[in-house]
Amino acid sequence: MNQIIIAIDGYSSCGKSTIAKALAQKLNYIFIDTGAMYRATTLFFLDNKINFDDDAAIHQALGNIKIHFENHNGKRITFLNDQNVEDAIRTMRVSQSVSPVATISAVRRAMVAQQQAMGKAKSVVLDGRDIGTVVFPNAELKLFITADPDIRAQRRVSELKNKGQVVNFEEVKQNLLERDHIDSSRADSPLRQATDAILIDTTHTTQEEQLNMVLELALQKIKS
Ligand code: DC
Repeated sequence: MNQIIIAIDGYSSCGKSTIAKALAQKLNYIFIDTGAMYRATTLFFLDNKINFDDDAAIHQALGNIKIHFENHNGKRITFLNDQNVEDAIRTMRVSQSVSPVATISAVRRAMVAQQQAMGKAKSVVLDGRDIGTVVFPNAELKLFITADPDIRAQRRVSELKNKGQVVNFEEVKQNLLERDHIDSSRADSPLRQATDAILIDTTHTTQEEQLNMVLELALQKIKS
């Protein structure tokens, strides 16, 4: 049995995290939600009033940010400087600023270094935007996830409503499209499908079907 790295990239709210989490659970692999790391960094910048154009303040702030993940009763929780920020990083306040923060090269360098350290022992599933292209270009299995924007917005609205947040469909959809645009057009490690990534469209498939499909692909790599 090979221990492999599974890189899952794609657009916002296509179900990447759900697929990555379920796949990691089936394989007994570690799941790393790299978007949560950019979100936690954004939360720190907002709470500490760091100006996104102030290189010196950003450099200093990055030295004061410690992110880690813990599993609580099967739920993965993001911690920022030992504080549970899992709900705070999923609010629209953070969603509206995270893509601009993710364009900052110093931020990307800090996140990528941590992700490479977390994944170097293999047996990991990472989801993000640049995993197959930049973080682990030699990952054994690369998937690129996409879905229709209306379906993505609807899924995100349901997810946020289930958490008790009041959200508007159009606002959520605009945020997704805006983030896709910023993520795909930034100069530093833009969102791209790696040439050797397998494209998966989740518009018309259930979570169970998606999991079965990616599990099959992962097991082929692990056994080969
Ligand atoms: O996966 P997510 O929607 O939680 O990610 C939030 C933002 O973080 C996304 O709009 C772009 C950025 N991101 C990134 O630039 N690179 C990654 N590897 C993961 C996320």
